[in-house]
Amino acid sequence: MEVKGENMPSIATLDDLRAELHKVFESDSVNVEYVNELLLNYKSNPIDWKKFAHGDRYKYTRNLVDEGNGKFNLMLLVWGPSHTSTIHDHADAHCFMKMLDGTLQEVRFQWPSDEESEMVESGRTVLKKNEVCYINDSLGLHRVENASHSEPAVSLHLYCPPFDNCQVFDEGTSKKIKCPVTFWTKFGKKVNQVRNKN
Ligand code: SIN
Repeated sequence: MEVKGENMPSIATLDDLRAELHKVFESDSVNVEYVNELLLNYKSNPIDWKKFAHGDRYKYTRNLVDEGNGKFNLMLLVWGPSHTSTIHDHADAHCFMKMLDGTLQEVRFQWPSDEESEMVESGRTVLKKNEVCYINDSLGLHRVENASHSEPAVSLHLYCPPFDNCQVFDEGTSKKIKCPVTFWTKFGKKVNQVRNKN
């Protein structure tokens, strides 16, 4: 598939991007370069996405935007100052991340060889507004951090196929546990959190 030039549709809004992603993911094979280019072509406009951007002061939030007919999940992540993810894998899925606002740092790690030693960092990248990064499990693990102590950040994440659980890793020991992927809002509406009574 041609990636640049005439074949690249114009992506003026988030709705244009969603429509194109639905087309692209009708096929079972994923053209990583093409999806990357589509995401780059969309220039962040808060008018498109602010209705999905629901944050929390204590932890970054996942806000589901589109379930992609079961082929992909598109979500907005809202990061308060200093919010950071765990070190995690991506359950064998493709993960694309596009910056919509602010700046985030992606820290990559090698897969650990045992559950006793410290995790080994393999690189870090600062991601600014409109930039895109891509990871899958063959490229390693990562942690995403809002290094700013004063500014929030917003990122758009695309996972294909969608997944409900991933593995999270302890940086000091490499021990891992399975963790559910939960949403703060879905399609702009707050999700009722099920509370453990114990
Ligand atoms: C998360 O969903 O917890 C972090 C986003 C990612 O890096 O995949």
